Amino acid sequence: MASPHRIFTETELVLASHNAGKLREISALFKGRPFQVTSAADHEVQEPEETEDSFIGNAVLKARHTVDATGKPAIADDSGLVVPALNGAPGIYSARWAGPDRDFIMAMQKVNSSLAATGGADRRAYFICVLALAWPDGHHEVFEGRVNGELVWPPRGDRGFGYDPMFVARGYDLTFGEIDPQKKLDIGHRADAFAKLVAACFP
Ligand code: IMP
Repeated sequence: MASPHRIFTETELVLASHNAGKLREISALFKGRPFQVTSAADHEVQEPEETEDSFIGNAVLKARHTVDATGKPAIADDSGLVVPALNGAPGIYSARWAGPDRDFIMAMQKVNSSLAATGGADRRAYFICVLALAWPDGHHEVFEGRVNGELVWPPRGDRGFGYDPMFVARGYDLTFGEIDPQKKLDIGHRADAFAKLVAACFP
């Protein structure tokens, strides 16, 4: 049976992000491939406001915005922490819960106190990463990666970012703030989504 996915055959792929870390990770992923990886900043494209109400919606919005501005295929990601006992919060608002100062101690405290208010029996959570690859003709492909785990308190470790210090992946004892960063990359939500993307569109 033919693949239901579109294979990438273009000469340039634009990463719809201004985040140097994301650009580095994605460039590494495509090392040795016969196309150039550039960024939205290289094309002087601003990041759009994330106005959709889902990870998929925001990932597609970001990719499409860059495609429309450059006329070239683009890839974008949207990620966050999802806590089922909090009806999915902070979810797409993961970055926004940290406020304009990007205060993740405050954001983690908010997650923990919201959980305590539910009784705190269910501390399960997952990180999610949605990747959207969009083409100038309107076609797009979407891939979702997850890592399941649970939330601990107090936060531990300073090797990660965001909500990492309060997240322990299933089967591990160390938080994502304590674990070897390479290990986190290997088992994380981004690696999961990237693996699905590469298998489908960059075989
Ligand atoms: P994005 O840049 O719109 O995808 O925002 C993602 C937000 O989700 C980040 O600011 C973090 O708060 C959170 N997040 C996503 N991935 C991770 C992770 O691997 N560790 C910790 N927090 C994460």
